[in-house]
Amino acid sequence: MNTEKEKQPIDESYRVAASGDVEVSTYLEIAKEIAGEKPVASNEAISGVEQESIVVIDFGSQYSLLIARRIRELNVYCELVTHETPWEKIAKLNPRGIVLSGGPASVYEADSPKIPAYVFEKSLPVLGICYGMQAMTYQLGGQVEKGLKREYGHAVLHISHMDSPLLANLPDAITVWMSHSDKIETMPPGFESLAYTENTPIAVMGNNNMYGIQFHPEVVHTPQGKQILENFVYKICGCRANWTMGNFIIDSIEKIRQQVGDGNVINAISGGVDSSVVATLIHKAIGKQLTCIFVNNGLLRREEAERTLEVFRLNLGMNVIYVEATERFLKRLKGITDPEQKRKIIGDEFIKVFEEEAKKLGEVGFLGQGTLYPDVIESTSSTSNASVKIKTHHNVGGLPTDMTFKLLEPLRYLFKDEARQVGLELGLPEEMVWRQPFPGPGLAIRIIGEVTQEKLDILRSADWIVMDEIKKAKLYRQLWQSFAILTDVKSVGVMGDYRTYGYLIALRAVTSNDAMTADWARLPYDLLARISNRIVNEVALVNRVVYDITSKPPSTIEWE
Ligand code: XMP
Repeated sequence: MNTEKEKQPIDESYRVAASGDVEVSTYLEIAKEIAGEKPVASNEAISGVEQESIVVIDFGSQYSLLIARRIRELNVYCELVTHETPWEKIAKLNPRGIVLSGGPASVYEADSPKIPAYVFEKSLPVLGICYGMQAMTYQLGGQVEKGLKREYGHAVLHISHMDSPLLANLPDAITVWMSHSDKIETMPPGFESLAYTENTPIAVMGNNNMYGIQFHPEVVHTPQGKQILENFVYKICGCRANWTMGNFIIDSIEKIRQQVGDGNVINAISGGVDSSVVATLIHKAIGKQLTCIFVNNGLLRREEAERTLEVFRLNLGMNVIYVEATERFLKRLKGITDPEQKRKIIGDEFIKVFEEEAKKLGEVGFLGQGTLYPDVIESTSSTSNASVKIKTHHNVGGLPTDMTFKLLEPLRYLFKDEARQVGLELGLPEEMVWRQPFPGPGLAIRIIGEVTQEKLDILRSADWIVMDEIKKAKLYRQLWQSFAILTDVKSVGVMGDYRTYGYLIALRAVTSNDAMTADWARLPYDLLARISNRIVNEVALVNRVVYDITSKPPSTIEWE
């Protein structure tokens, strides 16, 4: 007997770490590209804000973006640039200091990335982290020792120069996170050692203006790392804490007005965080020049369409075109069981509906999109960004070439937490701002097999109970996602004196940081029991509930 499971090639292309919003806006981008048009977004990874900032030169560490996030949490604007970015571009960011990130290279490799000359010429304060420190040492005439074994994990850092501004407000010993092989053997001329660990005699070094640290202050495993970054940005670089979402909103409104002039903007909304925040911000700037299009594809959760409309139309007073397209989508999904087919059809139909509605509006200059900073960084540093992933998979129809709008992406330089804050400050309800990600193809990929109205109704009722109980248990925000799946399994049950033959509902609840990996949530048994009891009692045709206890990998979060 052949026990080896039949292996299928892994195609992760359609699985993206994003809410439905990315899907919606990506459909539009794809459609435009198919129509022979390049979206007119600035491909710039640099914003050109006219305020002070800290610039992180990225040498490829998995933590580089985290450094930027930590610094922004200190209310100092921070952007990531590649080591090839010329000074003229960086100057536009008005830098007050430079951080050199870690990275996988070793300074002795022939093609290892080098610190650009301007870092040494401009007299700005510099903080080199891990590889950044090693490259600084090497390029300034010190010596880096080729590590034979890797030091990975916690270490105790002993501070020998308590008076160093970089190490101010710290006790004389702290726990730090190490992840390196090479280390500093001889410091460059003029530097002195400021702290050490058992395995790393030069764990922190500095001269008047430049510092190097071997460990990672940006990760949570270095509990006092934030203090070190705070010392660098405030005490050494002299930054003021002026990066706030209040200031961002004021600036963005001004910029949107300038960019749009008296033109018109359309924006697809889905009820997800990114598209909701971007629509609210654009509306704040240009009011009725913005029209939102909300397509009800019939694959949304219970009350989702009504609630979204209520917030945007009634509470915020926006122009919203609501398109009831359930029938169209269900008709096209009839008989379709393959998950990929489902996704393709939904994307294709969305574009058709959107195109019809947009055409009715006449002249539209701009398309609003909720692109966020991590998407920008990913798309400029690699080819693995969410939209590329979706694009490789979907083959949707094109918009007519006479629709030539430019992209308006005011959240392009924000992290998700910052976008959420903007939403809250603009008056979006917490419920919307903290919504768990919901896939663009909606409930269609949570119904295994053919999607029918009856199955949608069953899943909606079950999903409602899951949400209700998870929220009551105050776990909603802690979980990355929590939902029900309607399987195509039927099983025998008994209710009262009757034998039943009903549907099997699966529950899925996961914790995750970015959806690339996820762990199944250890929900309390009592909570699982309540959800299960309510589902079998309140949802007709369901007589059994199971809980999915697999992590990602090897499973995915969604079942299809
Ligand atoms: P998986 O199932 O691949 O999901 O672990 C990772 C994250 O992506 C979401 N997801 C999608 N989002 N269109 C989307 O907009 C899709 O086709 C899609 N498939 C999965 C999923 O909900 C999870 O957050």
